Amino acid sequence: MKVCTALILQAFVASSVFAQGIDMDYVHAVKSGGDTTVFLKGESVQAFKNPAANLTEEEVFRHLTGDMLFERNFSDDVSRFDHGLGPVFNNTSCNACHSRDGRGALPVLPAGQEWVSLKQNESVFLRISIEDGNPRQKTAADHWGAPKAVPGFSDQLFHLGSFGAREDLPGVGQAQVWMKYEKSNFVYPDGEVVVLRKPVFKITGAYDEYFDSVTGQVRSRLYESDVKTGARLGTPMIGLGLLEAIKESDILALAQRDLSAEGVSGRPNYVFDIQKSMANDPYPISLGRFGLKNNTPSVFHQSLGALRGDIGVTNYAFPDESIVGTPLYEFYMKGREGGAGVEASQEVADSLVFYSQSLAVPARRMVSEAQVIRGAQLFHQVNCTSCHQPSFTTGNHAISAFRQQKIYPFTDMLLHDMGEGLADGRQDFDASGREWKTRPLWGLGHTHTVNPRAGFLHDGRARTAEEAILWHGGEGEFAKSKFAQLPKMDRQALLLFIKSL
Ligand code: HEC
Ligand code: HEC
Repeated sequence: MKVCTALILQAFVASSVFAQGIDMDYVHAVKSGGDTTVFLKGESVQAFKNPAANLTEEEVFRHLTGDMLFERNFSDDVSRFDHGLGPVFNNTSCNACHSRDGRGALPVLPAGQEWVSLKQNESVFLRISIEDGNPRQKTAADHWGAPKAVPGFSDQLFHLGSFGAREDLPGVGQAQVWMKYEKSNFVYPDGEVVVLRKPVFKITGAYDEYFDSVTGQVRSRLYESDVKTGARLGTPMIGLGLLEAIKESDILALAQRDLSAEGVSGRPNYVFDIQKSMANDPYPISLGRFGLKNNTPSVFHQSLGALRGDIGVTNYAFPDESIVGTPLYEFYMKGREGGAGVEASQEVADSLVFYSQSLAVPARRMVSEAQVIRGAQLFHQVNCTSCHQPSFTTGNHAISAFRQQKIYPFTDMLLHDMGEGLADGRQDFDASGREWKTRPLWGLGHTHTVNPRAGFLHDGRARTAEEAILWHGGEGEFAKSKFAQLPKMDRQALLLFIKSL
């Protein structure tokens, strides 16, 4: 029996090194992050919390400094060294949204309640913007094509506020955000039913709210019909430096492939690049690589944008509060001395960036189990690999540990139209309201060990990888329906392969 499996295995490996341009070596690959990969002993809540294995001693030290800052709850007490929180924000630390460097979770609905309001320590927030029908231009006047801020707000809704930000609703920021679930059923061709849930949001208590006696309605600029909202849940932090090191030409080559037979066509996003802007580049635009719609070009831009935006701590890349110039900011600043100045030192900012780049990807497990191998083959047969590109060899990077590594992230780094079910209807640079970046799948099998309530997909709606697959529509419809048509045993094999990642 043993000999037999080995023979079949050998035959399989030999016959399918490349299948339709896909390097099938991913089936057996163990070191998902190349030499950065860490090997874990058993299940661990710390699975995502390791420095890349090939950092130098000095780099490990920098990483650990960043680790401390990533977990720190910033304070709005100006006498503390870690001050700078607020005046409005979504959470108090990076780690609170990127739970143990993994995914966040949606709020718990109290028993018997339909809606729950977002309070402290929620890892979900709303992006907001207005769309007036005019396409955004890549010009300085149009903020290089960034989503258009809602007047009086910004392009992110900050539901928490520092002491003194709101006299009417202490603790609240620009507005209160509420969430409930809409449920639906997915029925497999073989009759099995999976219950799906989707979070739905409503906004109340906006700081500019007033009663309009003419229409008899409570109004705010935020409640107007041209305002688009999109929910976002904290993402895993592993392997980001490696994703940064993937050659741009390799990503663009994937966008050039003709996958029209299966209805797939990945697109790049081109986005504002703060580092080019700081270097006075007249056209500060780069390929988007991070964020759920590829709306930032680098870990530097994304991390320091989050420090200023999500937490409200200004820094040398983003020296102004996100809400500067809005009436809420003017109100908060009344009686306070000047602007607060840049709140985080350059050292703090750079440590956070280095940390975010240098978290290790865990090694794959169970790779020689027959079911896992079967599942890995099926992953290609039902076209998951058209978007979840198994492997790349990285190019250059400022940090040498990430250079020339064969990696297995299972993402093409491109945007795809995922259909109406997943759409948020909100444009972000070149990404439409139906497009999302293909999520990397490396490390996915550790998700619920790291955070038992973690959610998948951009708004955390999916409780399991299976639910995440069943939400795939649009360009993902073909693969989803091929998956759904598999016999149950094969579906389980494919899910076990994902578990092995
Ligand atoms: C309020 C929750 C929240 C906080 C606080 C937060 N993040 Fe995030 N983070 C997110 C969400 C949501 C995304 C996806 C954003 C998007 O697509 O627009 C994200 C994305 C990222 C990414 C890109 C990951 C990827 O795969 O594309 C990095 C890097 C990152 N955050 C770093 C940080 C750092 C560093 C901090 C602390 C300074 C921080 N974040 C604080 C919620 C948060
Ligand atoms: C057309 C491109 C495409 C195809 C084909 C595709 N996916 Fe995806 N996948 C995506 C995108 C885009 C997302 C992120 C959607 C979002 O953020 O809401 C995603 C998300 C996921 C997630 C959730 C990951 C996370 O971190 O939240 C899983 C699991 C997944 N895909 C598995 C699969 C499997 C298995 C298949 C084959 C049956 C497949 N995908 C086929 C594009 C694709």
